[in-house]
Amino acid sequence: MSYYQPDLAFIHDDGFGHLALASAKVLIDALDRNGLQRGTVLELGCGSGITARTLTDRGYTVTGIDLSESLINMARKRVPEGTFHIGSFVDMEVPPCIAVCAIGEVLNYTFDNRSNYTSRKAFFERTFRALAAGGVFLFDVAGPDRAPKAPTRTFIEGRDWTVLVETAAEAGLLTRRIVTFKQSGPAYRRDSEVHQLQLIAPDEVESELRSIGFEVERISGYSAEPFPKGLYGFLACRPPTTA
Ligand SMILES: C[S@@+](CC[C@H](N)C(=O)[O-])C[C@H]1O[C@@H](n2cnc3c(N)ncnc32)[C@H](O)[C@@H]1O
Repeated sequence: MSYYQPDLAFIHDDGFGHLALASAKVLIDALDRNGLQRGTVLELGCGSGITARTLTDRGYTVTGIDLSESLINMARKRVPEGTFHIGSFVDMEVPPCIAVCAIGEVLNYTFDNRSNYTSRKAFFERTFRALAAGGVFLFDVAGPDRAPKAPTRTFIEGRDWTVLVETAAEAGLLTRRIVTFKQSGPAYRRDSEVHQLQLIAPDEVESELRSIGFEVERISGYSAEPFPKGLYGFLACRPPTTA
């Protein structure tokens, strides 16, 4: 099963890039405060490269990873200076870097069925070891209250596309059935995907990070973009004095 196939990848890039764009400002400000103006940033679930473009323009070197081939192809076009891999963060080695980011519920998705509490914690530990002193780990997770009380249906339109989303949740698992219509010549092509997200308690994430040694700040949005209900942000730093 593949996710973020070409039409949904296009729609995500065209209509849902606001958090990706705003997150770059938060990351750059945090790195600036810690005196880290150059170096490698690892981006998990980098999507179409929106965050990576801004970071690269500011002089950072970006390595991105994402499970969607269509999104990775878009990122390679948008950021030819970057390095992008198709793959999962679960088994990714973390290179020595000044920052790691995962924007847009990346850690919640079940696309890789090995993504769970244990693999996430192992990734946090690898990240801590790979980060430079003062390095930053910026990400968000969908918490249990991201689930609607009853199933909801929404539709959103762009210039040449429409996306319909049915959201339901059960036993800590959020399911989005996504139907896309993308204009192709005089007709509209229909496609659909089902995404499942394991909802993660934000307090657990915070204590995992602290137990590893991160300093943790909870954030309620990226720059001028507040999070929707149930999304929680973490700006975690490897303390400057850590050996
Ligand atoms: C909501 S999108 C966000 C994309 C991008 N960060 C943005 O904000 O535009 C979530 C992304 O996480 C990716 N993803 C999900 N599970 C992943 C995994 N285990 N490893 C790498 N990427 C993953 C998806 O393919 C998708 O591109």
